[in-house]
Amino acid sequence: MANYLLDPSVCFLNHGSFGSTPSQVLALQDQFRKEMEAEPIDFLLRNHPKRWADCRNKVAEFLNAEPDGTVFVHNATDGVNAVIQSFPWKEGDQILTTNHRYDAVRNTFEHMVGRYGVEVVEASVPFPINGHQQIIDSIEAAITPKTRLIAVDHITSPTALIYPAEELVKLAHAKGIPILIDAAHTPGQIDVDIQTLGADFWVGNLHKWICAPKGVAVLSVAEQWREAIHPTVISHGYGQGLTEEFTWCGTDDPTAIYCAPKAIEIHQSQGGSSFRSAHHQLVQTGREVIAHALQVELPHPDSQSLYGSMASIPLPCSVEQAPDLFAALRTEDKIEVPIIIWDNRVWVRISGFAGYNRPEQYHQLAAALQKRLIGE
Ligand SMILES: Cc1ncc(COP(=O)(O)O)c(C=O)c1O
Repeated sequence: MANYLLDPSVCFLNHGSFGSTPSQVLALQDQFRKEMEAEPIDFLLRNHPKRWADCRNKVAEFLNAEPDGTVFVHNATDGVNAVIQSFPWKEGDQILTTNHRYDAVRNTFEHMVGRYGVEVVEASVPFPINGHQQIIDSIEAAITPKTRLIAVDHITSPTALIYPAEELVKLAHAKGIPILIDAAHTPGQIDVDIQTLGADFWVGNLHKWICAPKGVAVLSVAEQWREAIHPTVISHGYGQGLTEEFTWCGTDDPTAIYCAPKAIEIHQSQGGSSFRSAHHQLVQTGREVIAHALQVELPHPDSQSLYGSMASIPLPCSVEQAPDLFAALRTEDKIEVPIIIWDNRVWVRISGFAGYNRPEQYHQLAAALQKRLIGE
């Protein structure tokens, strides 16, 4: 059984930002670190390439990705930066994203505006929303002859919405446009099949819902782009292909990578897809309980195609009240949950992780929100 070090006195409902890694995985990481300190040259020079490749092969198998196109990066931000900074931009090119994108990723796009004169276009995806067609239609409507790359989330951060990634890849390719899927939240939250998805670029974290140690994510690159993509830090492997370039980006601690297969093994032993469904069921309960307590409308139908292990619920308060509400929940009620300002409204984004969350915790949050926002 997996064991977690979370402080039991906190009602922790923010696995979506950062979750807790099982202590079995941390113990393995400790062992690797001891080995590294006992024989640094063996560990980092002689043994690293094979260990890195073995881990990469196991992770690629779990994600159904081609091993030759799959590399480790530190996090989703790093993976998105590798693609965006390597992409052959020309002045006037447009990057098409949506209004639900992650702010740090938007900054990566903005950086290209100053550097290459590209333009960032945001399709406006409605929220509240009824279904996937509205997402597809909004993105299609924002495509122009200048759209050079579509860069969209698989699961959005502020709104916790699952985008129809397969249909979006088909749409992009029908228009002859490459597509980057920001799947930061996807591995361990919903099923992943990178080869069937067929995106040009795919980036996903293992340190979120797979609970690997912090600092391990995957970048998967379609064959035709592999020569073009370089890591954010250029080192010894430059020009020698994707694997060589990403295996070594300067001296670093690779132990999070080495623990990724163990984290996947634990995830599978917890049930794999049934574990992921158990996360969803927690959130399904949570969003109903909170919406009922606050008498607010939920922003989308109760469909597993629209949300996974997170859900955003609108709060009946003003944007100005949000910081105080967040602070009071955390310090007085001992509830860790993100209060998000998005589209000029305030949202609470709940997470459900079946390894340590329980339905009562959503009742606790609902009662705290009710007391603070409605006063009953
Ligand atoms: C959609 C999306 N992209 C990128 C990131 C960045 O992930 P990381 O901090 O691991 O780089 C996040 C983080 O939550 C995210 O939600």
